[in-house]
Parts: sequence; C-alpha cells; structure tokens
Amino acid sequence: MGCRVSFFESPPTTDTDKFMDIIHSVEALRERLKREPNNVFVPTMGNLHKGHIELINIAKPRAACTVVSIFVNRLQFGPREDFDRYPRTLKADCDNLEAAGVDVVFVPDEREIYPEPQTYIVEPPDLQHILDGAIRPGHFRGVATVVLKLFNMVMPHSAIFGKKDYQQCLVLNNMVRQLALPIEIILAETVRAKDGLALSSRNSYLTTGERQEAPRLYRLLGKSRQELLNGAVDYQRIELDVMADLAHHGWKPDYVAVRRQSDLLPPVNGEKKLVVLAAARLGKTRLIDNVEVTRG
Ligand code: PAF
Repeated sequence: MGCRVSFFESPPTTDTDKFMDIIHSVEALRERLKREPNNVFVPTMGNLHKGHIELINIAKPRAACTVVSIFVNRLQFGPREDFDRYPRTLKADCDNLEAAGVDVVFVPDEREIYPEPQTYIVEPPDLQHILDGAIRPGHFRGVATVVLKLFNMVMPHSAIFGKKDYQQCLVLNNMVRQLALPIEIILAETVRAKDGLALSSRNSYLTTGERQEAPRLYRLLGKSRQELLNGAVDYQRIELDVMADLAHHGWKPDYVAVRRQSDLLPPVNGEKKLVVLAAARLGKTRLIDNVEVTRG
C-alpha cells in the first residue's frame, strides 16, 4: 500500500481506497470526508505504540473509513509539564498507521486547531478537579475542548479511547452524553508490555533502570485488586499500602485511589464496580495506570 502525503492539500483523486491521506487543514479534511461520511475516529497525540494500533484494530471493522488525528494539544498541558519535550515522531507514526490500514491521518498545526485564542471552553463538572485533575489543573478542560473540536472537524459516528486514561474516558463519555453528540464512544482495554507495564508514549522517558522498576505500579494495583476481590473494604488501608510500597522503591506517588467506576467518587459499602487508579512519578516520568474490579 502506497502513501500519499498531501502536504500541498492537492484536490483528492479517486485512488484514496489504496492510499492513506495525510491531511493538514480542516478544509481539506472536510473535503476528503465528504466522500466518506461513514467514519470512525481515533484521536491521538502521536508517538504511536501498540496500544494505539490496538485502538485502530478495534476501529477498522466499524466503518468504511478510519481517521486518526495526531495533535499535541497545548491546552491540556500545564505550564511546567512536558509539552515541549513530548515525543514527536510523525514519519514513524505515519508508517505505522499506513501499515495498520488507516485511511486518513489528520495532522493539524496549532493555528489550524486554535486560529484565535480559544475562549469558548468545555468545562467538565467536578470530575475534572479530582485525582489527575487535582494534580493537573485545567488538563481535562483542555482535553474536552480539543476533543469536541476534533469531533466537529471529523464528524465520526464512533470514536475509540484507551482505558489507561480512565478519567479522560469518563470525562469524554459524559461530555458526549450531556451534549447529545451523535457519537458512540468505545473504550478499549489497556495494552501492556509482557511485564505488565501499561504502554504509554511517556514510557520512552524512562531510563533503563526505571523501565525495569516501572511494572511495580501494575503489580501493586493487581495486588489491590485481589484484596478487593477477597472482600477487603478498608479502601484507605489499600491505598496507603500501595503508596508506601511505591515510596519505599523511590517513586513519588501523586495518588492511589479506590473509586467507583461510574463517577470516580469514593465507594460506599457494597459497591460492586470499582476501579483502583494510581499516578506516580518515577524519576522525571509520571506514570498512570488503573485496574477495574467487579465484585460478585
Ligand atoms: O489521550 C490522548 O492522547 C489525548 O488526551 C487526546 C484524547 C488525543 C486529546 O488530546
């Protein structure tokens, strides 16, 4: 399969079935998708790994056209976060997307997404201020705003997100429901390395030693999961145990929290559908992960 890079925004030809189009402007994207309105969408920030490819594999059978966006969204990064050093690997990403059978890659620059200061903002409710939102103020507002804009540009009937970003999934699911967007949100299981580490673009920041240490996070979440399945109800003790273990091994935990799957609030007794979420720094890298627990 060849790859046609439409840097010049040349008018679409009839051979788009065979080629992956790389499109940079909203205008060209709309023109291209006019011919293929049955599309499924995978928004990304690039630096693609097997987790993203799994989202594409889930997307492909669902529509005639699979659209992937690559856009590192400044609005969702705090002033001291890694926006500038976030890995940008467009060439490799396009090769991987082409091999995965993607039809359209949308790669806008900042002026295309934010041609003027973005003063109309999606403000998610309290959910945006807890857990990751408490550590990264404004993050979910930035995510919701860009995703709504991307939805309006692509106009997909479905969009796929990975459950590694559990809180993001909930924020976006609620946004789609409350704003009555005609889009089905499909959530995909977290893809992991053999040793359990959740795949993430930020794993590339880890040193060799840190990479060996990193699977501890998932191991500890797995232990918590087992305790909950065995009937444990002292959620705070479970959270503190994981935090202490991480700290003992050189991590700086931001939070470990046992929450309800439905709204990420603390569970009341007898709650069946739980999720244990964690975020912690290992060296300079911030890792997040979670495990769902459904009790009988
Ligand atoms: O999960 C991500 O990669 C980003 O938050 C998203 C959904 C592409 C919005 O920028």
